[in-house]
Amino acid sequence: MPYRLTVLGTGYLGATHAACMAELGFEVLGLDVDQSKIERLQRGELPIHEPGLQELLRRNLDSGRLRFTTSFEEAAKFGDVHFICVGTPQKKGGYAADVSYLDAVVESLAPHLDRECLVVGKSTVPVGTAERLADKLVRLSPAGMQAELAWNPEFLREGFAVQDTLRPDRIVLGVASERAEKVLRDVYAPLGEVPIVVTDFPTAELVKAAANAFLATKISFINAMAEVCEAAGGDVTQLSQALSYDERIGGKYLNAGLGFGGGCLPKDIRAFTARAGELGAHQALAFLREVDEINLRRRTRTVELTRELLSGAFDGRSVAVLGAAFKPNSDDIRDSPALDVAVQIAEQGGQVTVYDPAALSNARAAHPHLGYAESALEAAQGAEVVLLLTEWQEFVALDPEELGEVVTARTIVDGRNALDADTWREAGWDYRALGRP
Ligand code: UDX
Repeated sequence: MPYRLTVLGTGYLGATHAACMAELGFEVLGLDVDQSKIERLQRGELPIHEPGLQELLRRNLDSGRLRFTTSFEEAAKFGDVHFICVGTPQKKGGYAADVSYLDAVVESLAPHLDRECLVVGKSTVPVGTAERLADKLVRLSPAGMQAELAWNPEFLREGFAVQDTLRPDRIVLGVASERAEKVLRDVYAPLGEVPIVVTDFPTAELVKAAANAFLATKISFINAMAEVCEAAGGDVTQLSQALSYDERIGGKYLNAGLGFGGGCLPKDIRAFTARAGELGAHQALAFLREVDEINLRRRTRTVELTRELLSGAFDGRSVAVLGAAFKPNSDDIRDSPALDVAVQIAEQGGQVTVYDPAALSNARAAHPHLGYAESALEAAQGAEVVLLLTEWQEFVALDPEELGEVVTARTIVDGRNALDADTWREAGWDYRALGRP
């Protein structure tokens, strides 16, 4: 008998995991406490922009393998394996992660668990959380020790969520028993050959924190080199290209520009630092503060560069901002570097008009005081400077001549080093980028 799965929490991670597990052939019940979200998902409407996920959701709803509910009692009755996929946002007024949604899920689910089952945490958490939740689970479940916890961190990237879930680089299983390991190996068997690393709880939790810390460090490393290039007159894109041929370094996450944002990297490195401090290991992760600061300095630098291009003041000057999502192929604006720059310029008196192919309504809701347009050309109408801040393909493919027709001045800041400098300069643009002459 194949296991029946539940997915608790239907945000980016949960919605993707639920649809992908159904696609693999499992019967899946997704749960969320947000009634309206569940109604939308049940109708096949995806509340987020994620390539390929909408089709997967509809297909598996139609097949009957995927359903949604708001009832923990129903989930407990249905599932043999319960995946917890709720968010762990940054605590208000602090750096640590807020794990209260995780505790709430365990407290709501456990009292209904009256038979053997596995509860699997996938959320990114401060090390030590799994151990604590495992105790809580056993304490609150009528099934007692039969209700076991495991930790199975998720590494998916937004924009590639389906691909990353169905073809992961690796699977990490933090388990406390052979039974838990076997159940999870069975669940992931349909994925075929994937390296599986079996660990204890703290190691599984730390793998995720370490992976995000490494990626953030790599991006801030190349952005620190961009700062030095700016001071020395070097070109960080050539430097990065030359580094990328060294197999020990590799070229991924080495694109210099406006730096990282989103719902994960920024808050995860902060939470990791905070947790290390609690454990008395604050010195070990002190460098992550610098990684964070380098990252935030890129945003300030972009604002300064734009101000310099406008002869030192923003007052009433017209600035077109291309991009609002924290990265292309996403409508996610959480800690978006692009919007941060747009807001800083508007606060300093600039007339900012933002366009993004997918994140406009999210941006509008979060920052109603900014100006918005329905296309890149409309945003650039009358602009004295154009800022490319999220490297959507639509922007990379812009025709410098066509864009040049609508602006007041042919000045562009390529915040993502995504455009071909020569092409734009040949079309008469004053082309500026971060870390390049
Ligand atoms: C990240 C991790 O990649 C993923 O494994 C984890 O599960 C969640 O956090 P995600 O937030 O979707 O995923 O974004 P990612 O594609 O990693 O990009 C993060 C940010 O870094 C974006 O703002 C992106 O623009 C920026 N970035 C990325 C760079 O500035 N330069 C690069 O070279 C790569």
